[in-house]
This record gives sequence, C-alpha cells and structure tokens, in this order.
Amino acid sequence: MHEKCMSFLTLAAGRRTEERKIRGMKKPAIEGGTPVRETKIYYGHQYIDDADIQAVVDVLKSDNLTCGPKIGELEEKLCQLTGARYAVVCSNGTAALHMAAMAAGVGAGDEVITTPITFAASANCALYCGGRPVFADIDPETYNIDPEKVEAAITERTKAVVAVDYTGQSVELDRLSEICRKHGLILIEDGAHVIGTTYKGRANGSISDMTTFSFHPVKTVTGGEGGAVLTNDETLYKKLLLYRAHGITREEAQMEHEADGSWYYEQVELGYNYRMTDIQAALLISQLDKLPLFKQRRKEIVARYNEAFDRLPMLFVQKEIPESDTTRHLYILRIVPERLTIDRKQFFEALAAENVCCNVHYIPTYYFPYYEKLGYKKGLCPNAEKLYEEMLSLPLYYAMTDADVESVIEAVTKIALYYEKK
Ligand SMILES: Cc1ncc(COP(=O)(O)O)c(C=O)c1O
Repeated sequence: MHEKCMSFLTLAAGRRTEERKIRGMKKPAIEGGTPVRETKIYYGHQYIDDADIQAVVDVLKSDNLTCGPKIGELEEKLCQLTGARYAVVCSNGTAALHMAAMAAGVGAGDEVITTPITFAASANCALYCGGRPVFADIDPETYNIDPEKVEAAITERTKAVVAVDYTGQSVELDRLSEICRKHGLILIEDGAHVIGTTYKGRANGSISDMTTFSFHPVKTVTGGEGGAVLTNDETLYKKLLLYRAHGITREEAQMEHEADGSWYYEQVELGYNYRMTDIQAALLISQLDKLPLFKQRRKEIVARYNEAFDRLPMLFVQKEIPESDTTRHLYILRIVPERLTIDRKQFFEALAAENVCCNVHYIPTYYFPYYEKLGYKKGLCPNAEKLYEEMLSLPLYYAMTDADVESVIEAVTKIALYYEKK
C-alpha cells in the first residue's frame, strides 16, 4: 500500500479509538479488552429443583418405569393446562410431529407447508410419511410463517400446514385456521416453543387440529426428552394412540379378528415405539407446577432486553403481536447490518469473547445438504434467508439472575456501540 495512504488509515483508526475513549467505550474482549463477564453464560439451561428430583425418585422406587400411572396423569395435566380435550404424550417433539403428520393422513406425494426458520423436524415429519415439505416465507418482523404466503403455496397436493410458534410467540391462528378450513387442510401447530403461551386468551394447544410440544431440556419445561400431541378431535386422538405404540390395540372395537383370549391384541396399523417413560412424565408433572413462575421470569427478562435494545438503532427487536401472551422460549437478537461495521458472525464471536455464548436458531431447513439433494435451492424464502444472516439467540432461561441479564445487555451494548457505523 502507498505510504501516504497507510499513514492516513493509521491516523483515521487512531481518531476512531480516541472517539471511542471519549464516549467511554470499553475495548471488546475480542480485541484485547476485558470481558464483561468472568464466567460463561449459555443461551439456555434447564431448571431442576428438589421437587423434580423427588418426583423422579418416587417413580424409580415404584413398580412402573414406563406405561404406568404417570402417563395418564401428565396427559390430564396438559389438557387442564391448555383446555385441549385429548393429549398423547410421547418420546420427543419429533415423534409428536411424525405422529401428527400420520394422523393428518400425509402420504406419498402429499405436500406439507411449513416455515424454513425452524428445527429440521418440522419439515422432516412430511418426509417420514413420504410427503414433500413446501417452504413458505416468514413475516419479516414477527418471524412467524406468513399466512398469505401459506395460502399462495397451496396446490391440489397440499395436505397439511405445520405452523411453528417460533420463539414461543403464537402464529396467527385465526388466519391460518381460516385458510386451512377453506382448503380442507389439517393445521398442525408445531408448538415446541409455545407451552404457556395464549392466543386471544386461549392456551395454544387447544386451538389447532393438532398441536405438538417438545420437552427437550432447553425448552420452558423439560422431561429430559419428551413430547406430546394435543387435539380436540376424537378420531385423531385414537389414531395417535395407535401410532405411539406400534399400531397395536387391545380394544375389541378396533380389532379385525375375534380375540383368542384375554392376552390377545392386534396390530392394525404401522406404528412405532414412541412411548414416554413414567420417569419423564413424573419430571414433567413436577415441572408444569412451576410453569407460571417460568413464564413470569421469561417475560421479565424479555421485557428488560427489549427495553435495552429498542434504544439502539443498530439492533432490531422482534415484533410482538397483541393476540399472543407469549412465554418466550428464545430471545432473538437481530442486527441491522447497514448500521454496523461487523456482520452477524463477528457479532456472535465478539459476544462469545465477552463470555456471552449465543446460538443461532435456525439455519433455513432447505440449506441443508439433505434438502439440497432433494432439489431445494437457496432463494426460496428471502425474508427467512435475510433473518438468518442477521440473528443470534441470546441467553434466556428461568434461572438467570438479574446480574446475568444485565451482563448480557452490557455485552451486547458494548459490541453494538463499539462497532457502530459512523
Ligand atoms: C420448532 C421445533 N420443532 C420440533 C422440535 C423437535 O423436538 P425434539 O427435540 O423434542 O424432538 C424442536 C426441538 O428442538 C423444535 O424447536
């Protein structure tokens, strides 16, 4: 480089450093400064108390580790919580989606519309049934699937819509239900993030044809692993029960042959072993007792983050719809790249150096090599692709202390201001 040019750049960099000092800015840890936090904080963590431990121990001391009384108890509790008529608990949220897709009748060549901003299972459930996922773009501000894009994607092959309550905020259930009714489609709500949320005063889980939950440890309540499908429809419920247990029934009304004896059962469908253990169910029953507390704390943290980040023009705060009283599972920090000298990856790494360890939810599903090989190409959903370039998930969980929350805010603010484009 020309010498004069070099000295100009050095001068300019020196001036920028001076300016930052004047504005009281601290040097990011990634550039040799002191990290905001001494210890690392991660984006999610379960909360287990003595009551949870005791509930698990009690099952371990009982006669039934699986297929015991805790399963029905948990199902009843989920119905009470949501107002759904039926709940079928199962081994995880992926199994719940698979069972829901089967119950919806998804088969070879059928299309299932879903969002690309989700965990792969939301689309994979269509593939498990021989169907084809069709991706509809998201709303650029709420990040949930855009109902109008869903309607535009419907063909005569469409069988179902898998709508994900991304981050725990409800999808627009009124509009989606109306579209599904009009076109004779089954609405499956992938509610892996949504437990504790209400839409227009009704709990998510009681509104769609079927709603699936996941109880993975980063979710609001956990069973270690676990899932559930909720529905108000008795026919769907009976199918779900069969799919959970190999397609096997002991109910005479469902049998095709006469019973040989009291031991007799029949396999009448192709099902799976998607059962939940009583150990998981007991843990979940105990966790659900704390849901109001979990909800309240998550809401407090989200409100505090929103208040802090709303003031910074280089950050965009996820839009909240008034219909959804949200128990937030994920907090998405979105950068405004035009206002920063660094990109999302650099922002992510700068936060990690401050000991704030984030994640990214999610890589658009059709970016994955498996989907590429099925013929999906980038460019399908521009809003989703843009969001993916600009987002990261901040720590959000019940046990975060106020000091934790403030340290995350401090780290984000430090990085955002230091790298603000002038
Ligand atoms: C939106 C979404 N759908 C489905 C799943 C699958 O749930 P599980 O991990 O319990 O199988 C997850 C969990 O990561 C999820 O976040």
